[in-house]
Amino acid sequence: MGKAYEKFLARQAALEKQYDAKYYEKQHNRGKLTARERMELLFDEGTFEEVDAYATPAAAGGFGKSTNALGDGVITGYGTVGGKQVYAFSQDFNVLGGSLGSVHAAKIVKIQSMALKTGSPLIALIDSGGARIQEGITSLNGYANIFRQNVLSSGVIPQISAIMGPAAGGAVYSPALTDFIFMTESTSYMFVTGPDVVRQVLNEEVTAEELGGASVHSTRTGVADFVFSDDENTIKGIKMLLSFLPANNIENPPFVATDDPAGRAEEALLDVVPDDPDKPYDVLEVIRMITDHGRFLEVGAGHARNIVTGLTRIGGYVVGIIANQPKVMAGTLDIDASVKAARFINFCDSFNIPIVTFEDVPGFLPGTDQEHAGIIRHGAKLLYSYTRATVPRITVILRKAYGGAYIVMNSKGIGGDFCYAWPTAEIAVMGPDGATAILYRKELAEAEDPAALKKELSAKYREEIANPYVADEKGFIDEVIDPRFTREKIVNALKTLEKKSVSMPRRKHGNTPL
Ligand code: HXC
Repeated sequence: MGKAYEKFLARQAALEKQYDAKYYEKQHNRGKLTARERMELLFDEGTFEEVDAYATPAAAGGFGKSTNALGDGVITGYGTVGGKQVYAFSQDFNVLGGSLGSVHAAKIVKIQSMALKTGSPLIALIDSGGARIQEGITSLNGYANIFRQNVLSSGVIPQISAIMGPAAGGAVYSPALTDFIFMTESTSYMFVTGPDVVRQVLNEEVTAEELGGASVHSTRTGVADFVFSDDENTIKGIKMLLSFLPANNIENPPFVATDDPAGRAEEALLDVVPDDPDKPYDVLEVIRMITDHGRFLEVGAGHARNIVTGLTRIGGYVVGIIANQPKVMAGTLDIDASVKAARFINFCDSFNIPIVTFEDVPGFLPGTDQEHAGIIRHGAKLLYSYTRATVPRITVILRKAYGGAYIVMNSKGIGGDFCYAWPTAEIAVMGPDGATAILYRKELAEAEDPAALKKELSAKYREEIANPYVADEKGFIDEVIDPRFTREKIVNALKTLEKKSVSMPRRKHGNTPL
């Protein structure tokens, strides 16, 4: 080949030179790994195939710095992660702050469309100052094209974003359109307008961390589903998540046979729910006693902690868990909990992941704060998501299942497939206190000892109405079960629902409450 081959080798050498020791040092000094190192960690060894490594940046005009970095500040390609084919891009902060120029954007769009075409998950490793200012409108159009691909891929392939540096301005909306957002502690932040703009417009002093760091987004806003301490652990987290997911909406999630017996009896489940119905307990303990080897990947662990969401396997089947958490706000449903659970249900339903619900909910959270902030609108999201879901849906009522919350939390009336209740279940329109106060107002007012009468009426209400047996006898639940064998009941239900098939009316799309 002679000269032709020499040219080919020279090109390769030029690319390698770009990634010299200084290149690595710059990013390491910021407490971050380089875009290349992140891709190496993500993909199974030796499987990564880079695409467009030699793409050259658009010619610069007269304003601002230009770059001639090969690849235009983003590494794109495909390979396998845990044996599964995955497409990914990784932005390179060393090239003009990872900013998005037109070539950079076109590379991302190419990889997004390949992921969609081949039905492979897409991973975005983000470390970018946003639209490349000197490229102006072409850079903005690049974002527009990326957003469009995100939306086209939604519900077809899993899309996962990891914020590993800045994500500023409209650039936050690509991650926001994906299924899950990871953030790295201390080195990542996301905001629509940064601290400088906040200072100018509102005269308010705030740091980037306070405004949009990992801790804010994993607790208050719920934007981040997962937070890890550094780049390495963030990538490990992405791999863990991927191990539960199908490659696309046509496949089923990966079944992994387990040596944890399906019929494993768990004596401790008899003692989880306290005798006093107003005493809290930790629903995570229940979940861990039921799942394969007690494993559970919690999603959104720090946000809306009154509801628990996450992925796990039961009897080898991947399932999404939704559980009211009596330990936090008595497990009531508020706006944040409704939205968190609704979004998770939508994800599970899109990707054929059965949903298992553990219910202990006294009701929706009352009060002007919640009513005025739109609990009607937001609670409707949860109701809509459960009702629309066509994946297998199993509920276990552990204790309280009152009122609207009973209906919303996957009751059979809205399409739940199997509903089991523990003997401790209280299923009714409202709790004993509220019910006796309304039905016996006059008697209580006139009673010599109102407290004693109230206690007596509450006990009668529990005995006659707020128990699982009325619902069982009327067929609104399928069985009152021995808590020790909850796992076996769920495994059997998952087995029989394996080929569940329901069709919805033809329509363009439903009008999801927003
Ligand atoms: C071009 C950029 C850039 C950008 C950073 N750089 N952001 N170049 N366009 N958007 C360059 C810097 O000039 C610098 O170049 C290098 O990247 C590193 O940046 P530093 O500022 O030195 O780093 P740091 O102090 O860590 O700050 C990082 C930063 C800051 C917080 C991201 O650079 C910043 O605020 N950038 C602008 C963020 C922004 O407002 N972007 C536009 C958002 S609007 P040198 O050569 O000096 O090393 C947007 C629209 C999207 O994205 C629209 C979608 C709807």
